[in-house]
Amino acid sequence: MSIGMKERVLTGYRPTGKLHLGHWFGNLQNMLALQEQYEAFYFVADWHALTSEWQNPADIARFTEEMVLDWVAAGLDPEKCFIYRQSDIPEVAELLLYFSMITPMSWLERTPSYKEQQQQIGDKKDLSNVGFFTYPALQTADIVIMEASRVPVGEDQLPHIELGREIVRRFNSTYNAGKNGLVEPKALLAKSGGDDAGARVPGTDGRKMSKSYDNSLFISDSPCELRKKAMGFMTDPARKQLSDPGDPELCPLHQVHKLVASDPSAIETWEEACRAASCGCVPHKKEFAEDLVTYLADFQARRAAVGAKPGYAQEVLEAGAAKARPIAQATIERCRSLVGL
Ligand code: TRP
Repeated sequence: MSIGMKERVLTGYRPTGKLHLGHWFGNLQNMLALQEQYEAFYFVADWHALTSEWQNPADIARFTEEMVLDWVAAGLDPEKCFIYRQSDIPEVAELLLYFSMITPMSWLERTPSYKEQQQQIGDKKDLSNVGFFTYPALQTADIVIMEASRVPVGEDQLPHIELGREIVRRFNSTYNAGKNGLVEPKALLAKSGGDDAGARVPGTDGRKMSKSYDNSLFISDSPCELRKKAMGFMTDPARKQLSDPGDPELCPLHQVHKLVASDPSAIETWEEACRAASCGCVPHKKEFAEDLVTYLADFQARRAAVGAKPGYAQEVLEAGAAKARPIAQATIERCRSLVGL
């Protein structure tokens, strides 16, 4: 990085479902901030989605477009950052091929997320394929092909970045790359970010907000759905009766309300009322419901507007690929000459 140039940050997301408030606060807000400070690369990881959803590619294609529209409506600016689709950059696949030669299988077997996912969802999805096995190497190719030096991640993703650095070092030393070497990416630990981001945003049942728990407030939920979910939101489970004082710190609804409150000073009032048992949870739920609807209204209006433009998502993706691909081509040229076939 030379002086005056912005460092390059890169992250991708698998298009496997609708976005919820966990993604919104955990990832999207961070992406919005980063597009101002960095040269930001944001891509839809449709090949990564295919590693587990290879039987449903039509869903991936649909969620890819929706993700792009959500991103733009949330404020990611396609003029400012690079928004593209992984499968539009075939150079990534060639780089994965080179990486797959120099990466010992044991490195991939050791990846904690590999074992975990196999255990957690291996009975629901067939994850015994080679593509899933090479997931972290593909991720490394995504990063390296664009010469990104920074990857915003949560703690849970650190082993993937570390593995990526080892792969790059091994590539560079195997082919005596010297000054021509591939860039070793570094993690950018955000206070929020990464796959565990939702942990700080509880869902309607008090557990981490997650599609698979059926407890999510989706950013595309209608006001009617949002109100219904808000009224069913879990509060401090120890507060059984109106006369029991509650603890706002243990109240899932309160944690989410803090994030979306239209008047932050009202939060303190609710906290006091809860601790003093001077107010029940139902009025709090009602105000939370209205705040939630208001909070998402601007986004939802913009989302409806971009969604109404025919072909808009594809347009953004094509323009993004046109900007990003020359970078990938230059990197793969360098790799080819380093490998020297
Ligand atoms: N692993 C990320 C996820 O599960 C997606 C991803 C693919 C990614 N390639 C990446 C993230 C490169 C950061 C950098 O959503």
